[in-house]
Amino acid sequence: MIGIFDSGLGGLSVLAAIARKLPAADLIYLADTAHLPYGNKEDGYIRSRVLQIGRRLVDDGCGVIVVACNTATAAAVAAFREHFPELAVVGVEPGVKPAAAQSRSGRIAVLATESTARSERLAELIRQHAGSVRVHVEACPGWATRVETLHLDDPHFAAEARQHLTPLLECGVDQIVLGCTHYSFLAPVLQPIVDQRAALVDVAEAVARQCVRLAGTAALGSGRLTLLATAHPERLQAALPALGLGWLRHRLCSAARLIVA
Ligand code: DGL
Repeated sequence: MIGIFDSGLGGLSVLAAIARKLPAADLIYLADTAHLPYGNKEDGYIRSRVLQIGRRLVDDGCGVIVVACNTATAAAVAAFREHFPELAVVGVEPGVKPAAAQSRSGRIAVLATESTARSERLAELIRQHAGSVRVHVEACPGWATRVETLHLDDPHFAAEARQHLTPLLECGVDQIVLGCTHYSFLAPVLQPIVDQRAALVDVAEAVARQCVRLAGTAALGSGRLTLLATAHPERLQAALPALGLGWLRHRLCSAARLIVA
């Protein structure tokens, strides 16, 4: 069994990529909706949530866990691995490495939550993989919560996104890293703003490939999907078609369930 979790809907972008690559795997998606957003919380809080959720997924039989959240990975994946040494753990980190490799202008941007933006882990990722380019780290408060509302076509949000992106584009950024899994669902709003001037870099496919490499026998099951949430499970399930993931409903074995974790 493979467990995938996030604060809310964002990790569904990663779930979808994994579900496509591993049609027979049994998957659990857990949304920690009662505690979202993670991006404006202290590291200690995020760590304690991540460990609680890890315990729950292990108790449910997961041998592979995907931390489908850049914020949780930055704040807590080291503690998570230490706490659950028997697990295969896949974290999600902003695609700084591919963006730096693909940049022709030598300027890239990372859009992320406040927590990820200030994290030492992102600073280290940039030092390791983007030494030869200029990296603009842009915190985007409220964007993950915007995805949770599913009102993605709100013109006020498009105007706010333009305000963030225009200065980056004007200074020559040609790769924009979506450094929060929620932001994958904002691509239809962001793409027309960046137009041909920059590429949006999303790591969901790369994370799914890593999950395939580590899955082992967890890839072999009956292709069932279980949805769990710490609040409003019905919203999690209703979000699937709203986010273009209605096809995942065929893998559901029961209605999304509320859990205490
Ligand atoms: N989806 C998450 C991430 O990748 C967290 C968003 C949030 O809860 O603030 O960072």
